[in-house]
Amino acid sequence: MYYSDEIVEEVRTRNDIVEVVSGYVRLQKKGGRYWGLCPFHNEKSPSFSVNADMQVYHCFGCGAGGNVYTFVMNYENYTFPEAVQMLAERAGIALPEKDDSQEARSRENRRARLLEVNKAAAKFFYYQLRSPHGEIGYQYLKKRELSDETMHRFGLGFAGKNGAHLVRYLREKGFEDELIQEAGLASNSEKYGLNSQFWNRVMYPIQDINNRVIGFGGRVMGEGEPKYLNSPETPVFDKRRNLYGLNYARRARSGNIILCEGYMDVISMHQAGFTQAVASLGTAFTSEQAALLRRYTQTVLLAYDSDGAGVKAALRAIGILREAGLTGKVINMQPYKDPDEFMKNLGKEAFEERIRQAENSFFFEVRILQGQYSMDDPEEKTKFHREIAKKLCEFSEEVERENYLQAVAEKYFIGIENLRRLVTRYAADAGTAKPLERPKSGIQQKKDPQENARRSQRLLITWLCSEPKLYDRIKKYISPEDFTVELCRKVAERLFLQLKEGCVNPAGMISMFEDGEEQKEAAGLFSAVLPRLESQKEREKAFHEILLSVKKNSYEYHISRMGTDVNALAGAIEGKKALEELSGTHISLD
Ligand code: GTP
Ligand code: MN
Repeated sequence: MYYSDEIVEEVRTRNDIVEVVSGYVRLQKKGGRYWGLCPFHNEKSPSFSVNADMQVYHCFGCGAGGNVYTFVMNYENYTFPEAVQMLAERAGIALPEKDDSQEARSRENRRARLLEVNKAAAKFFYYQLRSPHGEIGYQYLKKRELSDETMHRFGLGFAGKNGAHLVRYLREKGFEDELIQEAGLASNSEKYGLNSQFWNRVMYPIQDINNRVIGFGGRVMGEGEPKYLNSPETPVFDKRRNLYGLNYARRARSGNIILCEGYMDVISMHQAGFTQAVASLGTAFTSEQAALLRRYTQTVLLAYDSDGAGVKAALRAIGILREAGLTGKVINMQPYKDPDEFMKNLGKEAFEERIRQAENSFFFEVRILQGQYSMDDPEEKTKFHREIAKKLCEFSEEVERENYLQAVAEKYFIGIENLRRLVTRYAADAGTAKPLERPKSGIQQKKDPQENARRSQRLLITWLCSEPKLYDRIKKYISPEDFTVELCRKVAERLFLQLKEGCVNPAGMISMFEDGEEQKEAAGLFSAVLPRLESQKEREKAFHEILLSVKKNSYEYHISRMGTDVNALAGAIEGKKALEELSGTHISLD
């Protein structure tokens, strides 16, 4: 932690989650909570809820959730310290300059040193490329039609044949061997000693949005394996959260971002004036990268390779963009393989035309789908139509679904009424057509017992958070050990402590989980929909049912473990007694 727990809590409590979220999402109050369209996935009817009492949010659609910190971290793609800084500023709280703890200082130093050694290495590669040693690298890039200006702009460099040179240079600059290795620039072997990882490659420094060199991609010249060698992940190089070229693309103001597959594609796009081009870092496009792009644009144009692998990657990316609430379109690169080749052969104007014609991602998906069926065979054709109907069901808003339905029916010569009937059928199966009914207690009798257990444990946690006074009445029967789902137990342990001390603080509890997934799930635990029941009697019955369900599950859990666990027997006996007592006890909610 950079900041002390006290500061973190202070900042959190001074930023009301409803106010903060309202800055990003239009919220409406309904039934004690605020509802809006989830900013973390694409939806047309609100399933994103903010609970002012508990200071948490939760999306019933995609499962996103957390407190005010997780919200700004996910929305703005901030790290935790960045979120603290932003919210402190918002609330007018002065933060201590820096956490002075030894540990934090040395971690910061480490990061700073890694950035320094990367910068020095980039400089070394840069001069190599422009020296006689780098002549072959320079000729290679020239042959690929890069201008000197472009090479300079992207800081391109060259790693020569002698891997000892880089190490010598860095040592002279005062970098320790250990640091050079941690940065992934060199590795140690018995035969060569400390030696550069990169040799005989043209070097692409990878910069973050603040133009700091965080890693490298090295391309072999001509043929050779591996074609690209990338720096390993380090404390400053997170491949999931950075994009090549974004330091320039973020200022392009072109109204869209063009997502390419390769570094070389990005460079040649920029050279042609498309400075909004970016690429992922030698790995598949991630949801973190989508969140990052959302800071700058609403529309992402995919300029992936036109081969089979490229199409597959594009389909994957479309899904990720859609989840992130971004509009995806696909640029047709045919007859060329990638943007780099396209630009060389057809040039800037032709590409501009392709941007204008970029295909709606839904139509792209349908077109690819069509390729998998033979349209001459009635049976295959039927299957294709069914797949289209299924895809149409993914649109939850009726107007949108209808518009796509009409368009796709026209495009593929499908009888519109027939297609509509198919859609209605699949929608009913998938539950899109009518909302699911909730049983009154809120405990759904699903087939999966584990799911049932989770559900009642979650309901009980939510209920206790909203009505802490109930704790005194149930503490005799229920303890944190009765929560058999691991995360529920972790939360229950903290919650029961807080209940005992009379200060319940769900949002604060979320900060205690370090893992993002756990934070999300924990927020979900505080956001279960409690049964909305009119009469007190019904409410009491529902609460009793939940208590019994939790206890019964715990009892069964202990029984099932009796063979292996000596403590389980005692637990089971206790449990049975408590369960019997509880069944016959009336617990008032007044
Ligand atoms: P050129 O062949 O020089 O035009 O490169 P490119 O940028 O067009 O690369 P390509 O389309 O072949 O691959 C796309 C991206 O995948 C590259 O930019 C790299 O980030 C990554 N990549 C390609 N080959 C390798 C490899 O062998 N290893 C790793 N780790 N990444 C690779
Ligand atoms: Mn290429």
